[in-house]
Amino acid sequence: MLELIHKAVEAPRECAWISASDSGVSEVVSVGGPPAGRPSGFALAPVYPEWLGDRGFTAEHGARFNYVAGEMARGIATPKMVIEAARAGCVGFYGSAGLPLAEIRSGVEDIKAALGPDARSWGANLIHSPQEPGQEKAVIDLFLSQGVSRVSASAFMRLTADVVRYTALGLTRAHDGSIHRANHVFAKVSRAEVAEAFMAPAPEKILQELVAAGAITPAQAELAGKVPVAAEITAESDSGGHTDNRPASTLFSSLSIARARVCSRFGFPQSSIRIGLAGGIATPQSVAAAFQMGAAYVLTGSINQSAVESGLSPAGRALLAKAGPADVAMAPAADMFEQGVQVQVLKRGTLFAMRGKKFHAFYRAGASYESLPAADRKWIDDVLGEPFESAWRATRSYIEKVNPAEAARADTNGNKQLALVARRYLFMGAQWAREGHPGRIADYQIWCGPAMGAFNEWVSGSFLEAVEARTVRQIALNLMEGAARITRAGQLRSMGLPVPAELFSFRPVIFE
Ligand SMILES: Cc1cc2nc3c(=O)[nH]c(=O)nc-3n(C[C@H](O)[C@H](O)[C@H](O)COP(=O)(O)O)c2cc1C
Repeated sequence: MLELIHKAVEAPRECAWISASDSGVSEVVSVGGPPAGRPSGFALAPVYPEWLGDRGFTAEHGARFNYVAGEMARGIATPKMVIEAARAGCVGFYGSAGLPLAEIRSGVEDIKAALGPDARSWGANLIHSPQEPGQEKAVIDLFLSQGVSRVSASAFMRLTADVVRYTALGLTRAHDGSIHRANHVFAKVSRAEVAEAFMAPAPEKILQELVAAGAITPAQAELAGKVPVAAEITAESDSGGHTDNRPASTLFSSLSIARARVCSRFGFPQSSIRIGLAGGIATPQSVAAAFQMGAAYVLTGSINQSAVESGLSPAGRALLAKAGPADVAMAPAADMFEQGVQVQVLKRGTLFAMRGKKFHAFYRAGASYESLPAADRKWIDDVLGEPFESAWRATRSYIEKVNPAEAARADTNGNKQLALVARRYLFMGAQWAREGHPGRIADYQIWCGPAMGAFNEWVSGSFLEAVEARTVRQIALNLMEGAARITRAGQLRSMGLPVPAELFSFRPVIFE
């Protein structure tokens, strides 16, 4: 009996034949073909990794698996990572946030050249950038001109005209009367109220303003008033980088309820909006659990940063490979330091989080460099690796170019000066990590969630323990295969079978 249970889990693509006795106790009687010479009971259908999640998602985006390799800013999710994810049958998003337009363009061109003009299983990231007026418009214009048909929109607190314009420009009415989308928005959210804005049709006011400006046609505005702005909603729970640290289980149900609310208000079928899950997806158990909750797709981030296709330096990837699930910390964000915004980063092997928090504590206390005790001034100079005065000069000459008003304000405000110098240090921490600066390991800023440590524990002792073996393909295929087996184990357990605990795990294997 136990042997057949093992076989049924280890071969999820085979039918498992189950018999039920009069007392209702189930038994696996054969795996593969029907049992010979015994009452056959019923067959438990195969579980394919390809069938986990919403098959409408794979059909829409030309993928084999309901699995997305998520965008990682400043090119950490490289064009190569996107290409390899798509070739493995997944969807890949280019980490275009924070890159200059010319670099985004060349990355998009590389992806298109490698995957061909008809490939649908990739996209790029549009990050909400309120501090850089005009940036979102320029990025959307670039995506439209380059034919980027999938855009992951992140960090939005409300809809903007450019997101609506992108969606509306791709809408047409098909012969059968249905509305066809050529431009797909994946909205990454961690709150129901933000999700609802993307699930609802675009607001009439924005549509009319776009029509008046000649940005979309009245026909496109009419269609946009009838469909959700985004058909794909990524629920971002506790993750690397910017995060509200929300637990996946509560966030997913909250967004599902929000979808039911929006769909009933606008008369949409609930299947017109797919909700995927991101944050902490790192092991076969977490993938299986996400699909069991009803996630249409899963999206991974942190774990791909340690893969060979990542834009992070080998030194940074080696640090990631040593992390445990608790080796993360929140640290001040470079771009929103003064507002107290934080990002989740790797703690083990770097002092970045601690140093960033100390800078922020000085700032919050209203200090300037001059007002601090000598010991703190020495600490600052040591961390900066140069006297504060010279760090301020370098910072000022940069700020003068991008935001002269801010530079002028800081001239007479020592607390602001301290903030700007700290921001530069935080920013450089990410750059040193990307470049693998050997003298600055203690200052590496590496965005990372608990997913990384959970992954390291899972792959420990397997071929995936070695960072050189970590490809987005091997990671994705192992996660999906393991999730299929765990799903099968769960099916058997829910029939009352005594499924051993070890069948709810999966040891990585090399996929050819
Ligand atoms: C290094 C790094 C950079 C990221 N940059 C972005 C980004 O630019 N835009 C974005 O929407 N999400 C970004 N994310 C979030 C990921 O796309 C993904 O949603 C998240 O990492 C999933 O959670 P996980 O880290 O637990 O896997 C980043 C994550 C990491 C680890």
